[in-house]
Amino acid sequence: MEQPNQQKGASGLPADSQDYHIPVLLSETLEGLNIQPDGIYVDCTFGGGGHSRSILSRLGAKGKLVAFDQDDDAKKNLPDDERLVFVSHNFRHLQRFLRLEQITAVDGIMADLGVSSHQFDEAERGFSTRFNADLDMRMDQRQALTAFDVVNTYTEQQLHKLFEQYGEVTNSKTLARKIVQVRNTASLKTIDGFKNAVRDIVKGNPNKYFAQVFQALRIEVNDELGALKEMLEQIPNLLNPGGRVAIITFHSLEDRLVKNFFRRGSFDEPEENPFINTEPVNELKIITKKPIGPTDEEMKRNPRSRSAKLRVAEKKG
Ligand SMILES: C[S@@+](CC[C@H](N)C(=O)[O-])C[C@H]1O[C@@H](n2cnc3c(N)ncnc32)[C@H](O)[C@@H]1O
Repeated sequence: MEQPNQQKGASGLPADSQDYHIPVLLSETLEGLNIQPDGIYVDCTFGGGGHSRSILSRLGAKGKLVAFDQDDDAKKNLPDDERLVFVSHNFRHLQRFLRLEQITAVDGIMADLGVSSHQFDEAERGFSTRFNADLDMRMDQRQALTAFDVVNTYTEQQLHKLFEQYGEVTNSKTLARKIVQVRNTASLKTIDGFKNAVRDIVKGNPNKYFAQVFQALRIEVNDELGALKEMLEQIPNLLNPGGRVAIITFHSLEDRLVKNFFRRGSFDEPEENPFINTEPVNELKIITKKPIGPTDEEMKRNPRSRSAKLRVAEKKG
């Protein structure tokens, strides 16, 4: 249970977990999950524990919450609550770790994708263009691949593709060529080293440019889209009938994966040819016809909520 004398922040959460991360679309996500007090729930992205604490506050004594986070730093936010089990692994292994807990079906699954404010604000994690540190960007520090490896070993074509797709970097081809040209002579070990090495091809506002470049590297290093796809594919099998899934995304590619999967049970775009009927069986029913975004008040209070989109679906009965 929450420590009774912990200092509370504005939203009733412990002040220190708010420093770690302010939860986004909190009441909307909880409403979407339609919590049953005796149910079993999964938070795929524990982080500062904002969503998890709210789920726990709606569960009764028999309820259970399994929370995943691949970043060990998240552990320091764990409340002392015997209804909570923490799994410090990637949510792409959802079913496997639930089975280890003897859980084969659950009543709700949520994910609040991307990195936490804590990860972003810790200089040495290498996620932010505001600091100088090694080019790292791993959420899971047990993982081998870092941003250094990506910029120093990927081919020009691979770099071009990832900057274009994941960062929508306007001159992604030029950037990829530049990296490959300079990496034999300049050191691309640190954030400053990288920024200086490519500075003469930066287009537009450098802060915005590097934010897009870093976003692309982060998505690649953590295989964020691959993990999301694998997690989504396990959801229909794991949910009890009437169980809900609520996913918050921050990137259009993530949102498209969630939207297509909720709508059609597959990641493909709808078939153009009306004479070919290869529709997969969809066990999910959409609850949010349109994605839910933050209110003006939330955006003002927490600018990092700006690009958040929540989609909710339910397992058919
Ligand atoms: C946006 S934060 C979640 C914040 C949380 N909802 C809160 O209210 O504090 C995302 C968290 O999910 C974790 N994460 C992201 N992708 C993950 C994955 N594939 N597997 C496990 N954890 C992941 C990150 O390490 C980070 O701590």
